[in-house]
Amino acid sequence: MKPYENEIQALLSQMTIAEKVGQLQQCGPSLVGAFEVSFEELLDMMFDGRISHEEFERLMGTAEQDYHEEALRAGRIGSYNGIADPEIVNRLQKIAVEETRLGIPLLFGYDVIHGFRTVGPIPLGEACAWEPDLWRRTARLAAQEATAAGIHMTFAPMVDVAKDARWGRVSEGAGEDPVVSSAYGVAKVQGFQTEDLSRPDAMAACIKHFAAYGAAEAGRDYNRVDLSPQRLYEEYLPPFEACIQAGARAVMPAFNDISGVPCTGNRWLLQDVLRRDWGFTGVTVSDSNAIAECVVHGYSRDKAQAAADAITAGVDIDMSSDVYVSELDRLVENGTVPMEALDRAVADVLRLKFELGLFEHPYRTDPDRAARDINRPEDRALAREAAEKSVVLLKNDGILPLQPEKRIGVWGDLAFSREDMLGAWAVGADGNLCVSLADGLTNQNISFVSLQGETGLAEVASCDVILAAVGETKDQSGEAASRADIGLPEGQEERVRQLVDTGKPVIAIVFAGRPLAIPYLAEHAAAILIAWHPGVEAGNALAEILYGAVNPSGKLTTTFPYTTGQCPMYYAHTNTGRPGGRSKFTSKYLDTPLEPVWPFGYGLSYTTYAYQDLQASRNGSGALSVSVTVSNTGDRSGDETVQCYFRAPAARRVRPVRQLAAFQKVHLEPGEAQTVSFSIPIQSLGYYTPDMQYTVAPGTYAVYAGGSSRDCLETQVAL
Ligand code: NOJ
Repeated sequence: MKPYENEIQALLSQMTIAEKVGQLQQCGPSLVGAFEVSFEELLDMMFDGRISHEEFERLMGTAEQDYHEEALRAGRIGSYNGIADPEIVNRLQKIAVEETRLGIPLLFGYDVIHGFRTVGPIPLGEACAWEPDLWRRTARLAAQEATAAGIHMTFAPMVDVAKDARWGRVSEGAGEDPVVSSAYGVAKVQGFQTEDLSRPDAMAACIKHFAAYGAAEAGRDYNRVDLSPQRLYEEYLPPFEACIQAGARAVMPAFNDISGVPCTGNRWLLQDVLRRDWGFTGVTVSDSNAIAECVVHGYSRDKAQAAADAITAGVDIDMSSDVYVSELDRLVENGTVPMEALDRAVADVLRLKFELGLFEHPYRTDPDRAARDINRPEDRALAREAAEKSVVLLKNDGILPLQPEKRIGVWGDLAFSREDMLGAWAVGADGNLCVSLADGLTNQNISFVSLQGETGLAEVASCDVILAAVGETKDQSGEAASRADIGLPEGQEERVRQLVDTGKPVIAIVFAGRPLAIPYLAEHAAAILIAWHPGVEAGNALAEILYGAVNPSGKLTTTFPYTTGQCPMYYAHTNTGRPGGRSKFTSKYLDTPLEPVWPFGYGLSYTTYAYQDLQASRNGSGALSVSVTVSNTGDRSGDETVQCYFRAPAARRVRPVRQLAAFQKVHLEPGEAQTVSFSIPIQSLGYYTPDMQYTVAPGTYAVYAGGSSRDCLETQVAL
């Protein structure tokens, strides 16, 4: 037992009920003053166009922040979120330490999702690097920057497996596959937390959203989830379990319900699965206002019941709904909520504060570093590396890399936008620090003709090649940004058609927070780069790829369908009794091809790779040994992500046609060959039977290895 467990008990024995409940209260600063309506209403007014963005910013500038200091002094606040100013953090911390009765330090949380000051690619983009070491290093940098500003916990990584491109939050996670999402989540947890959470630059990871938020029906945000327990365990829970095993110290229950029970009130999920089965001893933090929303779901009768439901289910911290502080004292006093439930939650909060070393070093900020950290060249170099590795080349008829003598024309607002390069959830960042595509070209002394505006088309005649920047702004993905049509937004395709019709080759640079349905581009563009939202170094990374200083190596971690109607579309589907084919009565659509435009795992390079000699055998230590030789058959060095898949034999539940088992990225010089070996625990190839027994089906397994989920060698092995 850790020494602080005794101190936790000692503190609990001194605390009043009100002080205990205070530890569970997390609030953000509220905006007060200059405007008549609530902050939420103001946000709505901006989003539905009643006031302009500029007017919104102006009003925000006049507003005052209310940090609820009276409540803090009274011991009624245990943590804050959304504050990233070290002076304010220290001022509030001083009140907690010096002016509250027990002097328990505060915990500060923040959404540090893909970088804090130095923003890198959105998670869906960074995932396409298939490189845990990179994922760890960018998380480390984010933690260093954020902790300097006084942040102790980030609400990240998001490890929601997401198969439906309509859902706006696919941008925040690693894509559709549990193996990739697990590896991504574990690397992020390690990078944020390090081995020792008490280090001044370590930050607790709050993994989210537990669970199956990515399975929201029809891809509509916050929507219901109704899922078999088998699929939940096989496809959605593994990244969470992997992150817990890697030491993640906080978990955020999801907004959605699962089969009718909101995760925020889900005792089975938060007690049985998380704490009993997985041995989690950290803290749970509700999503914003989610405890109060148990009433809106129609699960809890009123706020009092919502408070009781959430605390007994195992939600420790109430983020922003104020339901615990308004209801729990009374519920504990009248015996509705047992004191043990309250004590357990408070102990979780205190434990994290001890682990972070806050009792010894409550002022864990570094204002000098926080000021210095903005825009350091070495940090931007890492952001650039991440951006370069996240870009996926989906098509190239040979036009890329571009010849420097070609005269290029650039079209599309996104080519000139800095702010949009940040993507969703970059709340601590400054969009002015981003390099747009146009900036990136200029930085490399590449002159171009702007094809913007009415007269733009007329300028095409003077160009050899057109760069068309298309796709989504940063607000078109992320939370509350589901789309019922995942095609190119707002008339972009019409303009691209006009450009294509000029006969000049069009290179599409696609900025997006989700897979887009872009079959027209797939057919008519000379080349396509999916840039996602690449972060501060966007334009520099893209210019290097366009002109060949960098050889693209990203591979999709999510499937690109032809059309929205195919969503959810993912590679690990089951076969059905009538797999889609030429004959009429098979599983397909009348009006769209069966296959995706680009499958999971896909991505081109300026060089080519060949695979040969796939071997699979069972080794003595309960693992499946797989090896394959990959060679660089082109004339440039490159990085290739070798992917290993399997298909299980007939079992007591149907299994997917292909499932990722392992992956490894290799660097190959021209002509070089490398044999890549995987040791895959046979235990990891199992499934859940109808009565929820985890079983590895005996029989002959198909094993695949190659450069995408579609392009693989195949062999068989008996297990
Ligand atoms: C709501 C989002 O669902 C969650 O991901 C985020 O961490 C919290 N708000 C806090 O901002």
